[in-house]
Amino acid sequence: MKKEKIIIANWKMKLNLAETLKLAKEIKEKFKNLNKGKIVVCPNFISLIEINKILKNNPVKFGAQDVFWEGKGAYTGEISPEMLVESGCEYVIIGHSERRKFMMENYEIIHKEIKAVLKQKKLTPIICIGENWDERKTDRRDFVLFDQLQQALSGIDITDNQNIIIAYEPIWAIGSGTAIEPSEAEYAHKIIKLTLNDMFGIKTVKENFRIIYGGSITNDNVNGFINLDNLDGMLVGGASLDAEEFYKIAKIILRD
Ligand code: PGA
Repeated sequence: MKKEKIIIANWKMKLNLAETLKLAKEIKEKFKNLNKGKIVVCPNFISLIEINKILKNNPVKFGAQDVFWEGKGAYTGEISPEMLVESGCEYVIIGHSERRKFMMENYEIIHKEIKAVLKQKKLTPIICIGENWDERKTDRRDFVLFDQLQQALSGIDITDNQNIIIAYEPIWAIGSGTAIEPSEAEYAHKIIKLTLNDMFGIKTVKENFRIIYGGSITNDNVNGFINLDNLDGMLVGGASLDAEEFYKIAKIILRD
């Protein structure tokens, strides 16, 4: 049986509070008859409490864009998994390449964040991996994906009902306006699946993991990605800032 597809919107730091709430309301309206698949929006931190009011008991869910690995304490500027749950979040993006680039996050940090989130139990982590252009050009992608997964997830126990999403986001495609070839995504997703199978066993991967693609997905190019065997959904940045565009993308993926 195929997994229910998930389409996640990453709004990054692109909208202020008023713009965020407006978009959330538009998306809620568009998806009011959603009866298949999962839709998740990830706004900035300051919008979470208000978004919770808009999306309470709604089929559209929401998540945060980052989390810290401790539960409480002297960690100025940080937000814990418990706090995210308190705000109503059900998902959290971990290790986005923009955090790796601008905040110097590495997979040691990402590993700690994943551990903390899984300990909390009420959040689904969306773990970002993916090679940069130099690694792609020099044919190191397979190793990079393997290595990132190992660093992120080694020694982590997955309990029966814990869901984990791996977002394959080739860094060179993010925000570039051009997605990678669907066949390349399928290849990378296979590498990811095989690595996870080795680490956690086929049954756990089948039941607990989803592998999704992110990087310049639009309503124009998403068609090529449906029907891929190892694609369980999308992480959409720029194109998710327009409710109609995001809705069209989701509709195409969910048609599959
Ligand atoms: P993009 O962003 O769709 O604008 O390329 C995707 C992401 O960074 O998650």
